[in-house]
Amino acid sequence: MSIASWVERDERVVWHGFTQMSCYNASTPVIVEKGDGNYLVDVEGKRYLDAISSLWVMTVGHNDPDLNQAAAEQMQKISHSTLLGNGNVAPIELAEALAPRVPVPDPHFLFASDGAAAVEQAIKIAFQYWHNRGVTTRDTYLALGEAYHGDTVGSLSVGAGGFGTSMFDPLRFPVMRTPGYNTDNWAELATKALEENHNRLAAVVLEPLVQGAAGILVCDPLDVSQVAAAAQELDIPVICDEVATGFGRTGTLFASQQCGIAPDIMCLGKGITGGYAPLSATAAAPHVYETFLGPDLGERTFYHGHSYSGNALACAIASRHLQILDERRILDNVQTAAAALAAALAPVEAHHGVKAVRRRGLMAGVELDPPPGAELWGRMVCANAVERGVLLRAIGDVVIIVAPLSVTPGEVEMIGHTLACAIDAVAGR
Ligand SMILES: Cc1ncc(COP(=O)(O)O)c(C=O)c1O
Repeated sequence: MSIASWVERDERVVWHGFTQMSCYNASTPVIVEKGDGNYLVDVEGKRYLDAISSLWVMTVGHNDPDLNQAAAEQMQKISHSTLLGNGNVAPIELAEALAPRVPVPDPHFLFASDGAAAVEQAIKIAFQYWHNRGVTTRDTYLALGEAYHGDTVGSLSVGAGGFGTSMFDPLRFPVMRTPGYNTDNWAELATKALEENHNRLAAVVLEPLVQGAAGILVCDPLDVSQVAAAAQELDIPVICDEVATGFGRTGTLFASQQCGIAPDIMCLGKGITGGYAPLSATAAAPHVYETFLGPDLGERTFYHGHSYSGNALACAIASRHLQILDERRILDNVQTAAAALAAALAPVEAHHGVKAVRRRGLMAGVELDPPPGAELWGRMVCANAVERGVLLRAIGDVVIIVAPLSVTPGEVEMIGHTLACAIDAVAGR
């Protein structure tokens, strides 16, 4: 069946997020049938290098034989049983494997399915943590300008807005906000706000090192450590949202490690299963977790949970994925590929149609510089790159590259060259 017929069937029954369905057909969407390593293959057999790692989730390649085997083996046992009140081997094994690897000391993991849910859990945990300590005045959060933490109402509230979500502003609960990583002295301003408002703050929420959805805004790791240290000295829990930066994307397993910080609460998602299955987790340090201990069904219990929390199939895949990161020395590849990506983007950075290139590890944002009145450059550049066989997606006029951790030097070159050609096509040589 042709792509056109698939798109017709698609738009008749599927509602795509962050997508205007009235022109979905006209935007020549890729209809994927299968994956092959770092490539997606569409229903007509055309291959696309997945340079956004399927919205930043895929790590070691699609259709990976080892991850496939882990999934198949787990399915022979069980795919899911509830973690509400009972346990399951797969999430226990995953939590044991994650515990020594995350920067939260001696953590407990509360599992969910999406990044936004992990953030939602984190902010509720921080809120109840203070109630458990008998403090009811800590009723707000410090969050940063440009922040993005997901699309549920709580995660939208700590997020800074934008992306066409302003109509939901009346639903957002108010938080304190200081500027994000595009402001030079953001850390100083955040530290000042922490000092001035510490009696009211349930937590501070940070995306360490990279504000991804803001267009890959990057910061000095020392600034993150300064803010985290100030918060922790003032007894304000630090929530690190590593949904995007976690699992190797910035060059270390977690970005918090480059910042030298130990968050009190941490959000994991996206790459946790290598892009195989929806799974996320909120990790809590002992001083947080232990305040929740009390009498059975008492008020210290965390009354929150999802049907698919700790899905066994996803957890088994995530455990195998952690082993693969070591077995294949994936983080070494990230270091090499990140250097190659910097080189491949150098000509792009010099292009007259480009304002700036920002990068940490394998996350990069190429900010285009459209003339006044020009519209949709980001969209047009990505459409052109997709035609050339490299899947890219822009946020506004920032073309985002989030390369697979298993990307090869040749593929990195292909990303740089294709993007340069696409910018030529839209902005002129
Ligand atoms: C930092 C950050 N937090 C949370 C989320 C939300 O994750 P999800 O889309 O899985 O809900 C994202 C998604 O891009 C993110 O970048």
